[in-house]
Amino acid sequence: MENEQPLLQPYSKNGLSLKNRVVMAPMTRSRADNPENAPQEGLHDIYYAQRASAGLIITEGSQVSKDAVGYVNTPGIYSEAQVEGWKKVTQSVHNSGGKIFIQLWHVGRMSHPDFHDGNLPLAPSAINPNSKSYTPEGFKETVTPKEMTIEDIKKTISDFKNAAENAMKAGFDGVEIHSSNGYLFHQFFNGTSNKRSDGYGGSIENRARFFFEVLDAIKQVVPENKIGARFNPSLHGTFGMKMDAETIPTFDYIISKLNNYNLAYIHLSEPFTDVSNVEFAVSNIAEHYRPIYNGTLMINTNFDQKKGNAILENGLADLVAFGKPYISNPDLVERFDKNKPMAEWDEDTFYTTGKKGYTDYPKVE
Ligand code: PHB
Repeated sequence: MENEQPLLQPYSKNGLSLKNRVVMAPMTRSRADNPENAPQEGLHDIYYAQRASAGLIITEGSQVSKDAVGYVNTPGIYSEAQVEGWKKVTQSVHNSGGKIFIQLWHVGRMSHPDFHDGNLPLAPSAINPNSKSYTPEGFKETVTPKEMTIEDIKKTISDFKNAAENAMKAGFDGVEIHSSNGYLFHQFFNGTSNKRSDGYGGSIENRARFFFEVLDAIKQVVPENKIGARFNPSLHGTFGMKMDAETIPTFDYIISKLNNYNLAYIHLSEPFTDVSNVEFAVSNIAEHYRPIYNGTLMINTNFDQKKGNAILENGLADLVAFGKPYISNPDLVERFDKNKPMAEWDEDTFYTTGKKGYTDYPKVE
């Protein structure tokens, strides 16, 4: 008998055609420990190909330029060597029957001068997130960043466009803009991190402008239906973010405006923390945004097989992204199919180098 779990049904809309609705979520794994920060043959290609039974894989966040980095050993997508490294990854995943998007990342102020030859990280405004950055010498306190000039903004838009073009050269099936989790775009969206008085700050439209300019630039080099974007509207108290009265209206504006685009999907996170007592927060993101967005909606954060099947059944999402379960269960789809138990992940090897805790999790018998 066919397995009737909603998670295992194929999905097809607007040119995005997936063999099931299980997505491997983007996750920092810090294995690009080489001077080029390039994906490594025998490591990244194997890791992603092992997980190719997912309907879609989204890579770890990959910096679009040297300016964009904020964590040690994360891969980039701006240099020749990086593109060559990613080619091995996309070929291996495709040979294993999978599909893979790359996540395009700029951390903005969630960085440290140690990554930038002593220069300040870039951000919409000179406001310290009072967070930590994972530098080559371990965790360090973040600093007050440099307010981006118009030149900096233009350069960053062109860095995203260049990275997206590289992603196509590397053979990716699409790109995901990392406009989430307190990183650069989120810093522009939020009024506590964006105090600009020019066309990129003040009103909701202005705070969203930089994101749409980047999207429009990427559209010139990647078909619209191969572009996704990620948002975490109710992020509060972590990643340097605080919600205010305009936070949810800002995401409402952005996400309804995205109905005018023909995107592959939007990728939404349910709150990372309990926000039931947080003023201005929305506790159920899928419920809030499903009626607002007409395209493909991917949902994420602490889903398991049961919750994933339930949210698809209820029609509140089209695709479900799984993070940590994918670290220790490369064959997550097969385990769902056969109702096999989940393997535990080892947090001690999330961000270490090499194969241990990376490519050595076995498939279930
Ligand atoms: C992390 O490395 O901890 C991390 C990176 C990107 C995210 C969230 C967390 O979006």
